[in-house]
Amino acid sequence: MFVSSAGMHVAVLLFAAALPLTTVALDNGLMKTPPMGWLAWERFRCDVDCEHDPKNCISENLFIDMADRLAEDGWKELGYVYVNIDDCWSSMDRDKEGRLQSDPKRFPGGIHKLARYVHDRGLKLGIYGDMGTHTCGGYPGTPLDKIKIDAQTFADWEVDMLKYDGCYSNVTEQEQGYPLMSEALNATGRPIGYSCSWPAYQGGLPPKVNYTQLGKICNLWRNYGDIQDSWDSVLNVIDWFFNNQEVLIPAAGPGRWNDPDMLLIGDFGLSMDQSRAQMALWAIMAAPLFMSNDLRTISSGARSILQNKMAITINQDPMGIQGRRIVKEKNGIEVFWRPLSSNASALVFFSRRKDMPFRYQTSLSKLNYTTGSYKAFDVFAEKTVMLKDSTDFVVSVNPSGVVMWYLSAPAKRHLRQFYKGGRSRDEGNAIPSFIL
Ligand code: GLA
Repeated sequence: MFVSSAGMHVAVLLFAAALPLTTVALDNGLMKTPPMGWLAWERFRCDVDCEHDPKNCISENLFIDMADRLAEDGWKELGYVYVNIDDCWSSMDRDKEGRLQSDPKRFPGGIHKLARYVHDRGLKLGIYGDMGTHTCGGYPGTPLDKIKIDAQTFADWEVDMLKYDGCYSNVTEQEQGYPLMSEALNATGRPIGYSCSWPAYQGGLPPKVNYTQLGKICNLWRNYGDIQDSWDSVLNVIDWFFNNQEVLIPAAGPGRWNDPDMLLIGDFGLSMDQSRAQMALWAIMAAPLFMSNDLRTISSGARSILQNKMAITINQDPMGIQGRRIVKEKNGIEVFWRPLSSNASALVFFSRRKDMPFRYQTSLSKLNYTTGSYKAFDVFAEKTVMLKDSTDFVVSVNPSGVVMWYLSAPAKRHLRQFYKGGRSRDEGNAIPSFIL
């Protein structure tokens, strides 16, 4: 085809214009499954009164304590490896070179030393910054002109993750700042997981929020408001995420996650049933699992929910497909489903009822599963049942509680004996037909 020199010129220009886009993409290879760990904010907030509350104030001692617990109490082995500092860690002033510095009284060793300590325990350290003039708690922010220097400071301190909040910044600054920080973190050469609060400041939905772009520049992002220590707050978060699932599901995948905020399990606001519900639905959502609780005093009940291996396996499924709500009954029962690797899937039966355990009757074929036999493992009761798609079954779901199943096709070898050299027509496939 003949290309005029004017056409060529345009082509070159277009190519050049496309270049900056490629350098903006976050390229840290991190968080192929949702990150897991501990984050200070929901439980410890901005308690800086170490004189009166030495055990609970935002100080290096708090993070050392939590790192010790993560390393010694079986959390780390399950994947809970991030120890994340939130707001209120810094001094009110930058140092002479213009760098952020930690509060000298509360972090006498400094962040770099804390990172070394955390790394020595086989864990990772996260820190918090804010795109505006100030953090939400009123500490120094990282506005546009400070992005490079602060990214470099975090890398020099050997930090592994940054939560970049958005208080005291406007739309235009955010449009520039969030991609710029992504580039600046990349440019340090240190892999630093990048959590962006940007969408939460823009209502979480298109057209204001561009999830394709976010997936290229951030590893995870807060879409919605802050979670608080109450069941009402959990319901509010659940409603928003599942009412907007058609927008949110395609945004998620390995290395890029929607973040419905921290796990409250082990705090004051949730019953054991509600705690299981939060764990189950966060697993269905492929959500980051950041606990915000006191690991020094956590009850064994809360611990066993957070340490439930199957719930974690479901959350961490390598396909990284975010699950969805598939049934919303008028009687207050909802069913959620997530496709998993190896033809497996997860189901959650959830009750919004306030009266008594509800006996919900259904079958896998009613939930759109294809013909076949299935093995259903009850994640919290730790029991297995075998089911045909056509079998009617009843699950008893407690008020504000869940029943969670991990479903797999049973071993296929037995079937194969009868279908030598070929695939049986009947091999269970855990993928409901409606997505095929
Ligand atoms: C915002 C964030 C919270 C927390 C606080 C800290 O509200 O959404 O998660 O980081 O700021 O001030």
